[in-house]
Amino acid sequence: MDKPIYAALKSIGACIPDRIVTNDDLAQIVDTSDEWITKRTGIKERRFASSNQATSDLAINAAKVALNRANIKPSDIDMVIVATISPDFLCMPSTACVVSSALGIVGKPAFDISAACSGFIYLLSLAKSFIESKTCKNILIIGAEKLSSIIDMEDRSTCVLFGDGAGAAVIGATCDISKSILDVNISSNGEYQDFLMTPGCGSRNPITNDTINDRLQFIKMKGNETFKIAVKTLTNDVVEILKRNNLSKDDIDFFVPHQANLRIISAVGEALQFPDDKVAKTVHKYGNTSAASIPITINELFEEGKIKDGSRLLLDAFGGGLTWGSALLSFNSV
Ligand code: UT7
Repeated sequence: MDKPIYAALKSIGACIPDRIVTNDDLAQIVDTSDEWITKRTGIKERRFASSNQATSDLAINAAKVALNRANIKPSDIDMVIVATISPDFLCMPSTACVVSSALGIVGKPAFDISAACSGFIYLLSLAKSFIESKTCKNILIIGAEKLSSIIDMEDRSTCVLFGDGAGAAVIGATCDISKSILDVNISSNGEYQDFLMTPGCGSRNPITNDTINDRLQFIKMKGNETFKIAVKTLTNDVVEILKRNNLSKDDIDFFVPHQANLRIISAVGEALQFPDDKVAKTVHKYGNTSAASIPITINELFEEGKIKDGSRLLLDAFGGGLTWGSALLSFNSV
C-alpha cells in the first residue's frame, strides 16, 4: 500500500504596502476620531496601496517571499489559488492567473476563491485536499486584498476598519504527520448574506449610473449584528476543532484569529481562556485585511521570532457570506 501523504505549510510570506494611514488621517476625511476608532476596534493605523498597485502586485510580492523561504522554484508549483474580495478585475481574468504569469508559473491551474475574511482557511482546506489526494505536490496559496478600492470613504462606519495587504504560503507534501496541517474546518450560512456585502456591480445590481450614485459598489456592513455572531461562531469553532482532535488550548503555541476588531479577538481569546500572550494581534497596525489578515499575522509572528519550526498554530476566521473556519497546523520553516 502507498504511504499516506500529508499537506504541510512549508513557508510564509507577506507584503504590506508602505503608505500608513492613521486614525487622525481618516478624521480629516470623515466625522470620526482616533479615540472612537481605538476604543471600538483597537485599530491605530492601516496601510493603503498606492494608486498604481493592484491586489496582484501585493500578492506577487508576498508569493516571492514565500517561494524563496520554501526554497522552491516557480516551476515546482502545481497550482496557484488566490483568496480575495478585491480582485484586479471584476470578472476576469482571475487574480491568480495574473500572479502565476508574473511569477513564471505556466500551464498550471490558477483560480480565485471568494470566502471574504475566511479566505485563507478555505485555501488551506483546498490545498490540503489537492495534496492529500496526490493531485499536487506544491501549491501556492495567497490571501490578498486592496480593500481601499472597495471601501466607501464617505461611510465612517466602515472606512475606518479596513486595510490593504497580502500573505502567501507554500503548501507541500510530507510523510510526517507531525509537520502537517492536522485539520481544517470550513462552514457558511448565506442566510446572513446582507450582514457584510458589496451590493452593487454584480449580476444582481449591474453597473449603472444609479448603482454608482447609490454607492452600492462599496462594502456595507451591519456592524453590531456581525460583531455578536462573530464572537459566538469563532468561539464555538475552536471548541469543536480542538475537541475532535483530542487537544486542549494548552497544546497550542499560538492562537491566530482573523484580525477584524481587537474587542472580538479579546472576547474570543478570553472565552477560550487563552493567555493573552498566546493570542496573535496585528489589527492595531494593519486594520482588517480580510483574506490576508491571517497569513500576514503568521508572517509577523515568524519574523519576530515568536514561532519556529514545529510551533503548533490554531487559526480561526469569520467573514462575509457568512463564512467561517478554523485550522490546526504545525508551522514549518525550511
Ligand atoms: O471581518 C469580518 C467580520 N467583521 C466584523 O466582525 C466586524 C464586526 N463589527 C465591529 O467590529 C463593530 O460593530 C464596529 C467597529 C463596526 C462598530 O462598533 P460598535 O461598537 O458596534 O458601534 P455601533 O455600530 O453600534 O455604533 C455606535 C455609534 C453610532 O452612533 P449612535 O447611533 O450611537 O449615535 C455610530 O453612528 O458610533 C457611531 N459611529 C462612529 N462614530 C465615530 C460609527 N462609526 C463611527 C466612527 N467614528 N468611525
